[in-house]
Amino acid sequence: MSFRRIEDAPSGTTALVRVDFNVPMKDGVVTDDTRLRAALPTIQALRERYCQVILVAHFDRPKGQFVSSMSLRPIVEPLSKLTGTPVVFVEECVGEKVWTAIDGSQRDSVILLENVRFEPGEESNDPAFAKQLAEHVDIYVNDAFSTAHRAHASTEGVAHILPAYAGKQMERELDALEAALGNPKRPVMGIVGGSKVSTKIDLLKNLVTQLDKLAIGGGMANTFLFAQGYEVGASYCEKDEAETARAIMKAAKAAGCELLLPVDTIVSVRMEHGAPVFTRALGELDADERILDAGPATVKRLLAAMDQSATLIWNGPLGVFEIPPFDAATVAAAKHAAALAKAGKLIAVAGGGDTVAALNHAGVVEDMTFVSTAGGAFLEWMEGKPLPGVEALRG
Ligand code: 3PG
Repeated sequence: MSFRRIEDAPSGTTALVRVDFNVPMKDGVVTDDTRLRAALPTIQALRERYCQVILVAHFDRPKGQFVSSMSLRPIVEPLSKLTGTPVVFVEECVGEKVWTAIDGSQRDSVILLENVRFEPGEESNDPAFAKQLAEHVDIYVNDAFSTAHRAHASTEGVAHILPAYAGKQMERELDALEAALGNPKRPVMGIVGGSKVSTKIDLLKNLVTQLDKLAIGGGMANTFLFAQGYEVGASYCEKDEAETARAIMKAAKAAGCELLLPVDTIVSVRMEHGAPVFTRALGELDADERILDAGPATVKRLLAAMDQSATLIWNGPLGVFEIPPFDAATVAAAKHAAALAKAGKLIAVAGGGDTVAALNHAGVVEDMTFVSTAGGAFLEWMEGKPLPGVEALRG
């Protein structure tokens, strides 16, 4: 993909850098700084080029008005520690206060602007607001792949006004995604889990045309089992999506993509730690029992499929991994994928919401080839949709 990269940027400039600091926070304290750390290579690279770094980001969904609990101020302290330089905070994201901060700071300084979503022009991608963002800066760097599915002023609009560059994290994400789905080493397999078929229809429809094998797990697998005529007892199941599931099975067959649906299940009456669990053949469960994880034969077949693949793309857990022992299939699959990736036998790329939490739970994030910091953007990319923030960067 052809993008201008930071290495191509002129040194000594003032750079408006879109980052994703939509981080988990509790009582004004950042509880997971993954996204802050993800921005460090770009900040560092620009400072080494004597560029002034003006960070613009959103937090939560304040809907165009000031909400004090959604201020980005709590980011200042952890970010100052991580960058090793005092980060200057500006209570606005456009206008005179920003210009004063820019004029009053030295060349390699780091300035953090207040939540850009406090301004209504951000989400409406108002050209006048994008122009305001571009005032007093020379270049634009987008380092927020995880917001690239939003066509907002700071993710899209401003890229048409200033010379635009892809940041380091953006580059890493795009390179990994290209390796996993754009132009993958084959055979390529996918794992899609999570609870709802209804939220992943486009994704499944796109994946079956791209992948050699696709394993389906989590609650959504129950809908596929139901669609094949199996009893699902009291399991979570979108019965009204049975037709969709059948259409996806048909599309997979037509495209030559082998669907790996569960061949056995772990069931329990209660979804809680310590509840009695049973391994059951498909359809063999009592009316009050729920499928809460994939069974051992399913896991065995999944691991064997990984052994035969060159590339894996993974989104969504295989069971209720938050409540052991229903984490067994997810943990076994995660460990196996990570071991193969570490040994250089598998390109293993994962992303999207719960997936990162599941891989963290399994303790394997470091060994995967790449774990995306993105949620919704990762899913939209898996759906094959163009991402406005990425499209705007194309040179
Ligand atoms: C995310 O957390 O996935 C991104 O920051 C996008 O946030 P949004 O869904 O509120 O646009």
